[in-house]
Amino acid sequence: MTKLSLRLKTILGYLEPCDSFADVGCDHGYVANAMLKSGKCKFCYITDISAECLKKAEDLLSENFSGNFKSIVTDGLKGVPKVEQVLIAGMGGEIISEILKNADFLANRLVLQPMKNPEKVRETVLKSGYRILKDYTFKDGKFYDLIVCEKGEDFYTVDELVYGRDNLRQKPDAFKELIAKRISVLQSATPSMNEQERLKIKEIINKLTEILK
Ligand SMILES: C[S@@+](CC[C@H](N)C(=O)[O-])C[C@H]1O[C@@H](n2cnc3c(N)ncnc32)[C@H](O)[C@@H]1O
Repeated sequence: MTKLSLRLKTILGYLEPCDSFADVGCDHGYVANAMLKSGKCKFCYITDISAECLKKAEDLLSENFSGNFKSIVTDGLKGVPKVEQVLIAGMGGEIISEILKNADFLANRLVLQPMKNPEKVRETVLKSGYRILKDYTFKDGKFYDLIVCEKGEDFYTVDELVYGRDNLRQKPDAFKELIAKRISVLQSATPSMNEQERLKIKEIINKLTEILK
């Protein structure tokens, strides 16, 4: 039996029931497996750029769901038939953005969990005709960003692009902890800096402190 981490449970919680689903860069396939197991999706595509990684997911899903999935070794969504909902998790924001930009179709709903550079993902989905429904930081040992969107129109301010809209509006605990950590790292770095660098860092610290309020 597969036990989902808090990160994967959190992701799963934002996936909606659907007929067709694609888990891009699925690796172990735990989320796709949980989607089929819970009946939240009827059919899913599991993809990975690495055949070796995809094999893990194929083996897992074959145990109970042969006939309910198709596996494709591919870069992102290339060659994947149109589905309602797409998950791309556990990759850098730049890779996720490239996958979305090169996709043959736009799924109605995207659940995205970049490991870094979430601002790239926000920028890309907004430019691609999505509205962002949820955009916040959570913690499962490390800090993670979760971005959920559906087709539509939306507008983000520069700060929302950098920090995430729900982080700024609701200030979840994980986000506050992350920003406090950033401030503390910057503060401890300043003694070794020259005056010009110190002023620049002070500006950033002031901005981050303002955000925490
Ligand atoms: C760290 S794992 C994340 C697995 C899973 N999605 C998760 O969140 O736990 C990243 C996976 O993405 C795959 N990957 C990286 N770049 C990719 C791309 N351009 N297209 C498809 N898969 C990719 C890797 O081979 C790897 O299996």
